Amino acid sequence: MSAEARRRAYLEALEIDVYTLRGHDDAAAAPDADISPGEVGPDWETLRSAVASCTNCSLHQSRTQTVFGVGNPSADWMIIGEAPGQEEDRLGEPFVGRAGKLLDEMLRSLGLDRSSVFIANILKCRPPNNRDPSAEEAAACRRYLDRQIELVAPKMILAVGRIAAQHLLNSDAPVGRMRGQKHYLNDGQIPVVVTYHPAYLLRSPTQKRKAWQDLVLARQLMKGPAS
Ligand code: URA
Repeated sequence: MSAEARRRAYLEALEIDVYTLRGHDDAAAAPDADISPGEVGPDWETLRSAVASCTNCSLHQSRTQTVFGVGNPSADWMIIGEAPGQEEDRLGEPFVGRAGKLLDEMLRSLGLDRSSVFIANILKCRPPNNRDPSAEEAAACRRYLDRQIELVAPKMILAVGRIAAQHLLNSDAPVGRMRGQKHYLNDGQIPVVVTYHPAYLLRSPTQKRKAWQDLVLARQLMKGPAS
């Protein structure tokens, strides 16, 4: 398959309309030798517009808008949460409510802020009444998150909460068992640390100490072994 055909198959899988000029076939339009390997996925802006117009699951019917993510598209840290809530759906930005304020504090404790990390969710659309994402919804959205991770190429992913951790790591273990250790994504290339969701920490402040330990672990892993 030529690189152009691969690119088209990828865009079609993302349900992005692909137009071809009449009389241009794959081989003539983009011979393999002209395209370097890896140039097959959509770029950031193409991905953003694919998300904005996505109708891959029924959540598009009830959303106000999609929530693509926010921050530095070449950040070292990526924070992955569950799904937009009511305020996020209204404003188009992840983690803007009370849980978001606590997430900001957690980032600040690491010397980070919203502009130095990239924050995304498992789902780009709000599930009605903030119910848990279904497996089908998470699967329909996964390709967007995977491409975001590919493009950001973070050195560390912090998965906040059960939904994020379980979907990201394809596990059904509770957060209490996943936190406090390192996991890996993409064939071991990207370390993942799991911690409690800030909304849970607001309800159970005594768990903040464990969340802090998780952040320290993530920071240590980012820095690598002490010399
Ligand atoms: N909770 C999440 O997991 N993500 C958001 O964007 C907001 C709340």
